Amino acid sequence: MVRSPSQPLASLILDEPSSWARLRAGVHAHVAWMSMEERAELSRVIYPDLFSEYDARFLSAFVRSLPADLSDDFCACEETWARDEYLHYVGFRIAYSALSGLSEEEIDERMEARESEVDFRPLEALFEDEFSVACLVAYDELATVRAYRANAAVYEKLGPDMVDFVRRVTADEGRHYRNFFALLRDRHRDRLGDVDRVLDRIREHEGVPYGNTFVLDHDDDVWSEEIFDDAMATLRRHLHV
Ligand SMILES: [Fe+2]
Ligand SMILES: [Fe+2]
Repeated sequence: MVRSPSQPLASLILDEPSSWARLRAGVHAHVAWMSMEERAELSRVIYPDLFSEYDARFLSAFVRSLPADLSDDFCACEETWARDEYLHYVGFRIAYSALSGLSEEEIDERMEARESEVDFRPLEALFEDEFSVACLVAYDELATVRAYRANAAVYEKLGPDMVDFVRRVTADEGRHYRNFFALLRDRHRDRLGDVDRVLDRIREHEGVPYGNTFVLDHDDDVWSEEIFDDAMATLRRHLHV
C-alpha cells in the first residue's frame, strides 16, 4: 500500500513528565550499582547518540534555509522528524546525566555550544534539491536503525526502561526512513532515474569529518562499511522497484 507522505508516521514515545520520570528512575537505579570506570565507559559510548540527536536541529535549520523549493509533503515529514529527534535527545540526556553526573541543564548548555562549530560546507553537494535531501535523510535513518541495533548490549546495561526507550527510538528511525521513502516514491517518481547518481555521491561523502550536521555522523566505533553498504543497497533496491 502506498502511504501518503503528507501524513507522516510519528513517534510513539510518550512526551509526558511521568514517562520521562520513569526512564530517569530506571536508569539511575542501574547506574547506582556501576563502578566509576563503567560509568565513564558507558558515558563515552552514549555521548555520540546524545549529540547526534541534538544536532538534528542544525540540520533542520539548514534545510529550512535552503534556496530549494520544498513541498508541503516534505515539510510535513521534516517537522515530524525534527520533533521525534528532539524526543530522542531528551531520553539520551537522561541517560547521559545519570552516567556523567552532569545535570540535564548543564548538558543542554554544552550542547548549545555545538552551534558555533556547525559546518555544512563539505556536504553542500548533497543538498541540491528536495529529492537529494530526502535521499540523504532516508539513507542516514536506515543506517541509524542498524547502528542502534548493533549497540543493543550497551543500552541493556542501563535497564529495561532504557531498553524500551531505545526500542522506540529505533522504531522511530525506521519510521523516518519510511516517511522519506514514501515521499521519494510518491512525489519524485520522475527523478528515480537519478537515484544511482545521488546515492553514489552520498556514499562518497562517508568519512568526511563530522561538522555537527546530524547526517553522516558516522565516526564512532559502532559504524562499519558493512552498515553503510547494507543501508545503501536496501535504499537502492526499494527505490528501483
Ligand atoms: Fe533519532
Ligand atoms: Fe531519525
